[in-house]
Amino acid sequence: MRIILLAAPGAGKGTQAEKLSEHFGIPTISTGSILRRNIQEGTELGKLAKKYIDGGNLIPDEVMIQVMQDRLSQPDCEKGFILDGFPRTLPQAEALSASDIDVDVVLNLEVPEEKIIERLSGRVECSKCGATYHIVHNKPEKDGVCDKCGGGLVTRVDDQPETIKSRLDIYHTQTEPLLAYYQEKQMLRTVEGKEEIAETTAAVLNALED
Ligand code: AP5
Ligand code: MG
Repeated sequence: MRIILLAAPGAGKGTQAEKLSEHFGIPTISTGSILRRNIQEGTELGKLAKKYIDGGNLIPDEVMIQVMQDRLSQPDCEKGFILDGFPRTLPQAEALSASDIDVDVVLNLEVPEEKIIERLSGRVECSKCGATYHIVHNKPEKDGVCDKCGGGLVTRVDDQPETIKSRLDIYHTQTEPLLAYYQEKQMLRTVEGKEEIAETTAAVLNALED
């Protein structure tokens, strides 16, 4: 199964990608996580990405397309994958369509904007392994500590109110047009993502079975 998760920032792409990865036994490829890990490790890609990510802007298409070409050619992608955060511009979608990778389905998680803002405002992330939590909806067992690895939980730099706003603006102008692009290719399935995490996972799995 090859799935693209296409949704606004904070809609729950990363959260649902992890559930689908467990369910289908295929890797999640999260562009945001790849970039944040590179920032942490101080690589050249990380240095370039930081300038864009911190302000809520997109990394240039040619960089992102190269990163994903390399990642998708790894052997763990042979059985399938879940893409969380790619493509998010028309040139990225066109590059993927032009490659020899056939995607089965594009899932659009639809979440009202006020919910998105509430989710991003309460998100915390493990500084060590990148696992995501929410201070109300997905609390860690112990406040401030990652259940999975014991790392400290922090707020992402781009989850400040002003940056959330620009990320949403960019989503509307640059990523939303992909809905029509994939609709035309008859690959798009839309799922309501406004309910809690487990209910959304059930709806997503249901949509994938159709
Ligand atoms: P990225 O990391 O992909 O960020 P994003 O798209 O803004 O998406 P988020 O990770 O913020 O949201 P999400 O949908 O994964 O939500 P989550 O599951 O965490 O990208 C970051 C940056 O990298 C970009 O801004 C850009 O600079 C760069 N970049 C990445 N890809 C790129 C590309 N292709 N091209 C160019 N640049 C690129 O959920 C949010 C919160 O809500 C969590 O706290 C979670 O616990 C909670 N939650 C989730 N689901 C529910 C639910 N159903 N009910 C209640 N709470 C929920
Ligand atoms: Mg995410």
